[in-house]
Amino acid sequence: MRTDSSPQTIFRKDYLPPSYLVDTVELGFDLDPARTIVANRVTLRHNPLSKSRDIVLHGEELELVQLRMNGKPLQAGQYELNGNTLTIRKAPLAVVLEIETLTAPAKNTTLSGLYVSNGNFFTQCEAEGFRRITYFPDRPDVMAKYTVMLRADKALYPVLLSNGNLVEQGELDDGRHYAKWEDPFKKPSYLFALVAARLVCQEERYTLQSGREVLLQVWVEEGNLDKTDYAMQSLKNSIRWDEERFGLELDLDRFMIVAVGDFNMGAMENKGLNIFNTKFVLANPRVATDVDYAGIEAVVGHEYFHNWTGNRVTCRDWFQLSLKEGLTVFRDQEFSADMIGTDSGRAVTRIDQVRTLRQAQFPEDAGPMAHPVRPDSFVEINNFYTVTIYEKGAEVVRMYQTLVGRDGFRKGMDLYFARHDGQAVECDDFRAAMADANGRDLSQFERWYSQAGTPVVRAETRYDAAAKTFDITLRQHCAASADQQQLPFHIPVAVGLLGADGRDLPLKTDAQDRQGHATVVLELRREEQTFRFHDIAERPTPSILRDFSAPVVLEYDYSDAELLHLFSHDSDPVNRWEAGQRLAMARLLKLTAAVAAGAPLTLDDTFIAAQRALLVDDSLDPAFRELALILPSETIIAERMAVVEPQAIHTARQFMRRTLAAALKPELLAQYHANQTPGAYSPDALSAGKRALKNLALAYLLIAPREAELALARRQFAEAGNMTDRAAALVALIHSGSDAGAHLHSFYQDFEQEALVVDKWFAMQAAAPGTDVAAVRQLMEHPAFTLKNPNRARSLIFNFTNGNPSQFHAADGSAYEFWAEHVIKLDALNPQVAARLARSMDRWRRYTPALQAHMQRALERVAAHARLSNDVLEVVSKALA
Ligand code: ARG
Ligand code: ZN
Repeated sequence: MRTDSSPQTIFRKDYLPPSYLVDTVELGFDLDPARTIVANRVTLRHNPLSKSRDIVLHGEELELVQLRMNGKPLQAGQYELNGNTLTIRKAPLAVVLEIETLTAPAKNTTLSGLYVSNGNFFTQCEAEGFRRITYFPDRPDVMAKYTVMLRADKALYPVLLSNGNLVEQGELDDGRHYAKWEDPFKKPSYLFALVAARLVCQEERYTLQSGREVLLQVWVEEGNLDKTDYAMQSLKNSIRWDEERFGLELDLDRFMIVAVGDFNMGAMENKGLNIFNTKFVLANPRVATDVDYAGIEAVVGHEYFHNWTGNRVTCRDWFQLSLKEGLTVFRDQEFSADMIGTDSGRAVTRIDQVRTLRQAQFPEDAGPMAHPVRPDSFVEINNFYTVTIYEKGAEVVRMYQTLVGRDGFRKGMDLYFARHDGQAVECDDFRAAMADANGRDLSQFERWYSQAGTPVVRAETRYDAAAKTFDITLRQHCAASADQQQLPFHIPVAVGLLGADGRDLPLKTDAQDRQGHATVVLELRREEQTFRFHDIAERPTPSILRDFSAPVVLEYDYSDAELLHLFSHDSDPVNRWEAGQRLAMARLLKLTAAVAAGAPLTLDDTFIAAQRALLVDDSLDPAFRELALILPSETIIAERMAVVEPQAIHTARQFMRRTLAAALKPELLAQYHANQTPGAYSPDALSAGKRALKNLALAYLLIAPREAELALARRQFAEAGNMTDRAAALVALIHSGSDAGAHLHSFYQDFEQEALVVDKWFAMQAAAPGTDVAAVRQLMEHPAFTLKNPNRARSLIFNFTNGNPSQFHAADGSAYEFWAEHVIKLDALNPQVAARLARSMDRWRRYTPALQAHMQRALERVAAHARLSNDVLEVVSKALA
C-alpha cells in the first residue's frame, strides 16, 4: 500500500551508484506464520564511486526491533526512518549492521517478500520484495555473498531450503530444526529465496558435459509427485542445451525447482532455488494439455537460462530489466525451437511468437502504458514486467542474430560474459559486446532500446522487364509519442522473391556477398531506401519480412492473386502463414463494416478454396495447418480498426467461421479422423500438432452441429486419454451452445482435487461467447472460487475481460462496472495482480463513443478510490491522462 500521498516517478537519468557496497549478508530466520523474526548481519563498505556517506536501506511493512552499528545499538536519533527508507547519515567507511525485524508472513497477501501458501513458507523478491523481509540496500547493483540460517518447526516444515549449498543441518529444542545454506556466488537481493515447507521431491544426479556431477531436485506437495517428470526432463534438456549452444555450464552443485500454488507470475530464477507457479511444473497426461507441456519446457528453460543471463551477469538498475528478460526469452524461444528440431517445427514456434506480439505487444506499444524496451521512467517497477520488456525485448535480441548470424551472435555472447561476469550492467553493454565481437557499428540499433512504438515499414516495388531489375523501396515511420520524436530504426528486412512457379529466385543484390541466396537480409537504416535485385527474368512476387525478421508492421499492397500465390508456395513458412492472415484480415475488415452497416455478409469462393487446399495438404505439418487455419483474433482485428465495435467484429468473425465450417465439412471430418493419436500420450511436437489440427476441426464441426457432430464431441470427451483432447471436446461443446452443463458438471467432479484443472474449468467458461457478466458473477459464487489465489482469479476474471471481448464490451457497460469493482477488491489483497487486471482497459479510447463513456466512468471510479496501490494508480492514471 502507498503510505505517502502521491506516487513518485523514478527516472533512469537520476541513477546514482550506491553509496555503500555490501560484502556479506548473514540472515537468520525464526520462521513462524504470525511472527517471523529476521536477524540480518550485513557488512558494508563505502563505495569509492559515491560522494555520499549516507547508508540508505529500504524496508516495507517491517517492525524494527533492534539496530546495531559496529556492535553498538543505534538510538532513535542516530538514524532516520522515513516512509520506506532507513538512513544512517555520515557513516564510517566500514560498517557492520545488525538488524532485527519482525514480519507476519501469514498476513502477506501480496505474495511479495516472505509469505505463506497452503501452510508453507515461500519468498518472492524480484523486483523489490527483499525489503519486505529485512532492511537492505535493495537494488540490483548491490551484490553480496549470502549465508542463511533457517529455523522452524520440524513437523510442520520438514524441508528447509535456500540458495546455494546446504552446509549444516540439525535439531533444536521444542521440535524445531535448522538448516544452514551458503551461496558461493555474489548476488543481488532480488535473487534471494527461502522455502520452509512440507514437500517431497523427485531428484536425480546428473553429469554435466565436463564430467562434474550435480544434484537436480523438483519439489512439490506430496500428492503431486506423479506430475514432476516433464519438469525434470525439461531441466536436463535445458542444462544440455546451454552447454551445447552457448558453452554455459551449471555453476552450482545443486539445482532446485520448487512449485507453489500461490504465485504472482510464472516463475522466479533465484540462485540455485527456482520457485515456480505450479502451472509451470506439474503435468501428467490426465491433467495437463499440450500447451501446458510446452509452457513447462519454456519456463523451466527460461529460469534455468537466467542463471547466466540475469544472475551471473545482472542488471545495473530496473530500467535495464530487458537486458536479462529479453535475452532470456530469446534463449528460451531458441531452446524450444531446437527441442523440436525440424525447420517446420521451428517455424511453428516462430508463428506463435508473432501471434503473441500482435495480440499483446503491439497494442501495448500503441496504448497508454507504451514504453521503450529500456524505459526512461516508471512509478512501480512491477508494472514493467511487460510484453514489451519480455517479448519485444526478445525480438530485439533476435535481430542481433539476424544481423550478425548465429556464429556472430555466439561470439557476442562470449565477449559479453568475458567482460561482465559477476557484474551488474546495462543494455548498452550487451549491444557493445555484439558490436565489438563482430566489428559492426550498431550505434543506430540503440534506438530499439530508447524509442517506444511499433515501426511501420511500407514497401513499394518496381519491376523493369527490359533491365531485368526488381526494386524494393522501403519507407519507415513510427508514430511520435508524447515525449519523443522518433528517429529511423536499424531494421533487418529478410526478403525472398517467388517466381511464377512458386519457387524462390536466386537473388543478386548490389551488395557483393550473399549472391544467389533464396533469402537476403536488407538493412533499412534511413527513412527511405531502395534495394535493387538483378537478373530477374520475370515479375516476381515479393516475400517481405521473412521469418518476421523485425517487430514491425509491414504494409504492402498485395493483390489477392499474390497472396494466394504466397499462401500456397512461399518457402518461408512464417510468410506463408502471414499471407493467409492477410487474406483473412482483408475479408474480416470488410465483413465487420458490413455488419455495422447492416449489409448482407458474403465470403468468396476463392478464399474458401484456399483454406480447403491448405487443410488437406498432407505435405504440411498438422501444426502448421492448424495455425494457418486460425483466423486473426477479435483483438487483432480490433487493432486494425479506427473505431472498434466489438460486437460487429465478433459477428463478422463468427460468420466467417460458420461459412468455412459449412463449406469444408467433409474435409474437416476427414482431418478429424486422419489426425487421431492412438496409443500412449506423448507431448512431442508432431503428436501435439495432430491433436491441434484434429481439435480445430472438431471446433469447426461443432459450430452448427447436427447430432452426428455432437456425438463425436461427446465421445471424445468421454473417452479422451489426455487432457488436451478432453478439454478441447468440452470447449467445443460449450461453444456449440448445446447441453454443455452436464459435461461441465462431470468434468468438475472428476477434477475438483486438481487446482490447475479447476482453473481450466473456470477459464473455458469465462471465455465462452455465451458467458455474460451475470454468468461470471454467478461463477464467482462457486465454492472453488477465490480472489486470493492469482491463478484462480486470472482464470475467471482475466479470461473474461481479455478473452471474451464481445461480452466484456456489452453495450450497457455492466462488465466495466464489474471490472472496476474487482480491480479495487483485488488491489486490497494483491496490487500486482490488480494492476494486471487494470490493464484490460488500456485501449479504451479506441472504442465507440458510447462504450468509451462507460469505460471512462469505470476508470474514474477506480482512480477515485481512496486507498489505491501505486501499481493500480499508475495504470489508471496513465489510461486517463
Ligand atoms: N524474473 C522472473 C522471470 O521472468 C519474473 C519475476 C517477476 N516478478 C515480479 N514481481 N514482477 O522469470
Ligand atoms: Zn525472466
